[in-house]
Amino acid sequence: MTMMEKMIEGMPLGFRRQLLNSRDAFDIARRVRNPKVLTSMAGSVGRGLILKSNKQGEPVDVPAAHSAHFDFEYRSDYPEMYELYRRALENQWNGDTSLDWSIDVDPENPNTAVLPMELVPLEGLAENGIKLNRKEQIDFTYSFASWLLSQFLHGEQGALYASAQVTESVHWIDGKFYGSTQVIDEGRHVEVFFRYIETKLGGKLYQCNDNLYVILDALLRDSRWDMKFLGMQIMVEGLALGAFSQMYSATREPLLANMLKYVIQDEARHVHYGVLALKRHFAEISEKERQEREDWAFEVALLMKNRFLAHEMYEEWFEHRMSRRKWDHVIHNSAFMSNFSKLMFKRLIPNLEYIGILSPRIQKHYAAAGLMEFAGGKNASQLSGDDLINDLAA
Ligand SMILES: [Fe+2]
Ligand SMILES: [Fe+2]
Repeated sequence: MTMMEKMIEGMPLGFRRQLLNSRDAFDIARRVRNPKVLTSMAGSVGRGLILKSNKQGEPVDVPAAHSAHFDFEYRSDYPEMYELYRRALENQWNGDTSLDWSIDVDPENPNTAVLPMELVPLEGLAENGIKLNRKEQIDFTYSFASWLLSQFLHGEQGALYASAQVTESVHWIDGKFYGSTQVIDEGRHVEVFFRYIETKLGGKLYQCNDNLYVILDALLRDSRWDMKFLGMQIMVEGLALGAFSQMYSATREPLLANMLKYVIQDEARHVHYGVLALKRHFAEISEKERQEREDWAFEVALLMKNRFLAHEMYEEWFEHRMSRRKWDHVIHNSAFMSNFSKLMFKRLIPNLEYIGILSPRIQKHYAAAGLMEFAGGKNASQLSGDDLINDLAA
């Protein structure tokens, strides 16, 4: 333990939390090397990590400054997007009647575990001197599942507003048709995730994770429509697909598995929409603008890779028993996190390649972060929701 760590450990709890949060904000500032990207995210980092706008227990109003782009021609201008719109209409489902809500979820039955115990880092905790008894292991695993589903829910709420915004600002009429279906999809996702937490997980709703909030805040405020697309439709939806897929292949609880299957099929279309829009748009912008987007995507990818460390769980369970640095290490090296990260980047990197922001200039940075192994895979325009599900089962 360093001198600094010792000092932090000895501080009163409230003060210690504040210091660690400021250190997180500083850590992001140090990590993001591109000054333009840093400037565009600084306000959101302050609101999420230091002011904790997401944890005040009150509704938050996030101001937006994008343009609603009117099209008075109404003629089809992107047939592939129109086709996606038709497919979205045909594949609508009902959050109430398409799922069997009568299924009882028993947290103590390992055969129908919401999250199997092997996936929570009990070993990593034991290596750090924290041994949980059987009852605590069950409670901790159940809480971990609630934490995960709560973050899915908060992300879905962000996706609902972002999809409404991109529907306004997208530049093709066929894109607007498609966008309207994504809005209803995201509304339904909010409905079903909340209902699951409320009725099957004892209503244990966790607050929105700080780092997730930073990303949502930054995207909803950004006035540039293509940055919203890049951030929401490619990066955050990619993140969500990785997380949902991981949970889908892990869970043994049939209601959740069925729900995630439906949700994954919707999300596959959302990413498809994003890559269609950006492939065409990025081919038309200047090289300087393209590079700016390439840098931005790289920095956000790294933030997503390193920062979802479940601090809400740490504060609830172990804040008095181990340092946060040790907790971060345990989570970072857990099976769940490494599988999740792998699934996310397996989908994300081919998409960045397809839309034209994975030029040789940036590839060496991705390679240094160990992410180039995912290049050359299938992108979202080549993968349906069924392909994704089958791929997970394989
Ligand atoms: Fe969604
Ligand atoms: Fe989505």
